[in-house]
Amino acid sequence: MTDDGISVAELQELLASGRPVTVLDVRSPSDIDWEIPGAIHVDAYADLQSRRLGPLAELDLSVGPVVTVCEVGRTAAIATDLLRAYGVEALTLDGGMRSWSLAWNTAQTTISGCEVIQVRRTGKGCLSYIAESESEAVVIDASINPEVYIRLLREHGWRLVAVVDTHIHADHLSRSRRLAHLEGAKLLLPAQDRAKYPFRPVADGDRIAFGSTALVAMRTPGHTEESTTYVLDNSAAFTGDTLFLNSVGRPDLEGGTRQELAARARLLHMSVGRVLQLPEATEVFPGHVSEPTPFDGRMLGTTVGTIRETLALARLEEPEFVQAVLARIPVDPPNHLRIVELNERGEFPGDPSELEAGANHCAVA
Ligand SMILES: [Fe+2]
Repeated sequence: MTDDGISVAELQELLASGRPVTVLDVRSPSDIDWEIPGAIHVDAYADLQSRRLGPLAELDLSVGPVVTVCEVGRTAAIATDLLRAYGVEALTLDGGMRSWSLAWNTAQTTISGCEVIQVRRTGKGCLSYIAESESEAVVIDASINPEVYIRLLREHGWRLVAVVDTHIHADHLSRSRRLAHLEGAKLLLPAQDRAKYPFRPVADGDRIAFGSTALVAMRTPGHTEESTTYVLDNSAAFTGDTLFLNSVGRPDLEGGTRQELAARARLLHMSVGRVLQLPEATEVFPGHVSEPTPFDGRMLGTTVGTIRETLALARLEEPEFVQAVLARIPVDPPNHLRIVELNERGEFPGDPSELEAGANHCAVA
């Protein structure tokens, strides 16, 4: 922490510890597509550009310190200066929301005798998982710095045996290849010919053994052709971008004509139906959520039974499902073509923050 700055890691630590802090987001409403959990939004952009506190002067900022946030930290730094001159203990989040994209938190649960840690990229909504049985672990959809997973594995005394991805991602750069390499673990990807680096292909029904259990691969095409759900002991399904807590994956990110999109939406209908044939109590753990993950240590998940009851889309017959999905395609994720290209090549740029900035847009709206 500098005199008037705070790093992403320091703010993450502060929020995780539950210590008092006020996060003050000064971006214009039109620039906000993601936020820090608990942040107060005050549209002071124009005032701050003229070096005036404007509406910020009216706020009760007694729960301190105050951390000011904008897109990259410049406007927030003006707010910090002015608030400090006013006697408020203010700090600017270094790198703003663009750097916050990499922030994460965790939640943990026990399923069928296995420990499952949900590693949540709160700054973007990506969910990844560490599943453990008898001190052997598998990581699913690594989406943040490999060192984070390694630290968590060391803390628990677990050995990483495999890293798997549910599909070739379009919203974030996969860290799976790097993590597997660093830990000497197997790298497994759904069988496809897109990835241009060595991996072990996973086909429908394959078992990925660890400890005394295994993940069983269920091919669930639609979001992408190779999309695969991993099922743990019929008790948990890691669904990637096929099925979310309250939506389904989008079938359009690989491009194509309307007929091709409709064909993929039909596959998605079949895949969602297949996942929902799992036992009612099976936990569903998706690859994303559409909101920032709170620092509350609570797993984000639902059950097959709940989705059957609450997700109207999942109850539609195929023609209506296809029509509904195609009518609800959201905006493209930022830079998705470039991200897909790098994920297919297995490359990772030195600084991913610009490429990965912004929310994920993997679900139909
Ligand atoms: Fe995806």
